[in-house]
Amino acid sequence: MRIQLSIISLLPLLVCSWAKPAPTDTTISAPTSSVATASGSASAAASSVAASFSSTSSASPSTIDTPMSSSPTSVVSGSATATLSRSATSSAVAPHNTSSPPIALGYVADYHIDKTNLQNYPFENYTHMSFFGTPVYNQEIELNMTTEEPLVQEFVRLAHQHDVKAMFTIGGYGPASVYFSLQTRNDSRENYADLLTSYAFQHGFDGIDLDWEYPNGNKSVAGDLFRDDDDTSNFLAFLKTLRSKASNLTLSAAAPGQPWLDMHQKPWTNMSEFASVLDFVVIMNYDRFGSWSATAGPNAALDDSCVANATLRQGSAVSSIKAWTDAGFPASKLVLGVPAYGHGFPVPAGHATNPNRSIALYPPVDASRLPLHGDKWDDPAAPGGTFTFQGLMDNGYLKQDGTPADGIYYTFDNCTKTPFLYNGSTEVMVSYDDAQSMRLKGEFVKEQGLAGFAMFEVGGDHENILLSAVKEGMH
Ligand SMILES: *[C@@H]1O[C@H](CO)[C@@H](O)[C@H](O)[C@H]1NC(C)=O
Ligand SMILES: *[C@@H]1O[C@H](CO)[C@@H](O)[C@H](O)[C@H]1NC(C)=O
Ligand SMILES: *[C@@H]1O[C@H](CO)[C@@H](O)[C@H](O)[C@H]1NC(C)=O
Ligand SMILES: *[C@@H]1O[C@H](CO)[C@@H](O)[C@H](O)[C@H]1NC(C)=O
Ligand SMILES: *[C@@H]1O[C@H](CO)[C@@H](O)[C@H](O)[C@H]1NC(C)=O
Ligand SMILES: *[C@@H]1O[C@H](CO)[C@@H](O)[C@H](O)[C@H]1NC(C)=O
Ligand SMILES: *[C@@H]1O[C@H](CO)[C@@H](O)[C@H](O)[C@H]1NC(C)=O
Ligand SMILES: *[C@@H]1O[C@H](CO)[C@@H](O)[C@H](O)[C@H]1NC(C)=O
Ligand SMILES: *[C@@H]1O[C@H](CO)[C@@H](O)[C@H](O)[C@H]1NC(C)=O
Ligand SMILES: *[C@@H]1O[C@H](CO)[C@@H](O)[C@H](O)[C@H]1NC(C)=O
Ligand SMILES: *[C@@H]1O[C@H](CO)[C@@H](O)[C@H](O)[C@H]1NC(C)=O
Repeated sequence: MRIQLSIISLLPLLVCSWAKPAPTDTTISAPTSSVATASGSASAAASSVAASFSSTSSASPSTIDTPMSSSPTSVVSGSATATLSRSATSSAVAPHNTSSPPIALGYVADYHIDKTNLQNYPFENYTHMSFFGTPVYNQEIELNMTTEEPLVQEFVRLAHQHDVKAMFTIGGYGPASVYFSLQTRNDSRENYADLLTSYAFQHGFDGIDLDWEYPNGNKSVAGDLFRDDDDTSNFLAFLKTLRSKASNLTLSAAAPGQPWLDMHQKPWTNMSEFASVLDFVVIMNYDRFGSWSATAGPNAALDDSCVANATLRQGSAVSSIKAWTDAGFPASKLVLGVPAYGHGFPVPAGHATNPNRSIALYPPVDASRLPLHGDKWDDPAAPGGTFTFQGLMDNGYLKQDGTPADGIYYTFDNCTKTPFLYNGSTEVMVSYDDAQSMRLKGEFVKEQGLAGFAMFEVGGDHENILLSAVKEGMH
């Protein structure tokens, strides 16, 4: 029960085999007519953002491959370093707000910590830490995190000891978001805002992060059970109420790669009012491909406008920032969500590698081998084939320095800026983030004048390899 509750509230979709995952950019990627606009925009979309980023122009994906060698392996991160041309910093890019340091938000999932290991978390290396809790709803609109009381207190204490803003995140994919639609309606939003605010004040939190997945979502998905046509406008009204009660708190929201949807499942076109009540929005640029996908693919593409096949463009950092800023949400209030985990896919050896030993991109998965077991943090009851960066080390994919282990195939996809691993004996392919892809994400955050980055989740990293890389990119 504990595990199940925990897992369903994962911020990114790590597991959930019981429910069809709603990839964050459904309308961008779904091959349906409603998508025409959005998917047509995918390459156009990226173009203006990419212009300043100048990462992509080739029509087909190119890869940086493991150099041919006698053994199918090892990479050389030095030589494989993708060179992003950064010369063309366009004037459209928002100036960096130098009066406040960039946000380095770390998510800490309650189901992976206890009082004994929390103190080992690198609080000092983040500006904000958010406690990703598992609320218990005793009644439809009641929040109760009292079971976690000692842990919450320790979390806030440690954050403050390190001069870090302590936040808590509420929601997540699936049932964890089930009550947002009711809670934000006009008859309950006042109470709910009181509930969250008093919880924050009582525990000394500095901020509240709302992770509703998703307003106006698909009603047959568990989290969207009570979906209402007015979800997104109710969300806005709720945020205004919350803001009025919590003027001294940081308010943020975790969001998909395009603005929240209206009653016709179209993204809102004017997000300026949201920007006026929220301090920032975290773009969850991960879970683009996962256990639900027909082919392997990048978990967290930086850019996918160079992917030739439109069906395989499942959204990226570039397309997300473009979609949000086009809707009037300032880049300076966008935080790029970056994953300290990857997704594994069962891919038969015959489809997984090219003759030159590079890993094949977008091969079909062998559905007969699903579900795939990931690392120790993957849900044993409902495996999703997820591996944290640390878990890739524990399972023999990576060495302790974060580079591929001997005998493991490695390819860096220079189109989406994504590293892939393949274990030829278990026939499992993994798309993940390493120091190289994280550094490029950091560079993107800086170039686009974003507010910062958010790591999901802190405990997935290994000795701050990923954190150091993203910071280095932003430097
Ligand atoms: C909603 O989800 C159900 C179940 O996964 C799916 O069959 C249906 O096509 C989805 N509807 C839309 C509009 O995406
Ligand atoms: C990778 O892509 C960048 C542009 O994003 C390009 O400048 C570079 O030459 C590419 N590297 C390789 C090895 O293809
Ligand atoms: C820069 O950050 C400061 C402090 O957070 C804020 O008061 C100010 O409005 C920001 N300026 C811009 C242009 O965003
Ligand atoms: C909250 O949960 C705790 C532990 O399960 C329980 O003892 C307490 O009565 C609950 N509070 C409310 C208001 O339901
Ligand atoms: C509350 O919302 C309902 C449904 O959207 C609406 O019919 C009603 O008029 C609203 N009440 C107030 C006081 O705004
Ligand atoms: C915000 O204000 C409330 C009420 O005045 C207070 O209890 C709380 O400690 C304050 N929190 C912060 C983070 O300033
Ligand atoms: C967006 O909404 C704001 C606030 O309602 C309004 O001032 C602004 O003109 C709108 N922008 C556009 C492009 O419609
Ligand atoms: C594009 O990718 C989809 C999904 O893998 C595949 O079904 C389709 O055949 C591909 N289209 C082309 C033109 O390769
Ligand atoms: C290896 O082969 C693949 C598929 O033919 C190709 O896309 C890639 O560029 C090749 N890599 C090298 C280093 O030649
Ligand atoms: C692949 O995975 C198996 C099972 O975990 C492990 O024994 C092996 O060392 C891994 N690496 C290679 C190169 O096969
Ligand atoms: C983390 O903080 C320690 C202590 O201040 C510092 O030495 C280290 O460089 C920091 N690492 C990162 C990645 O921020």
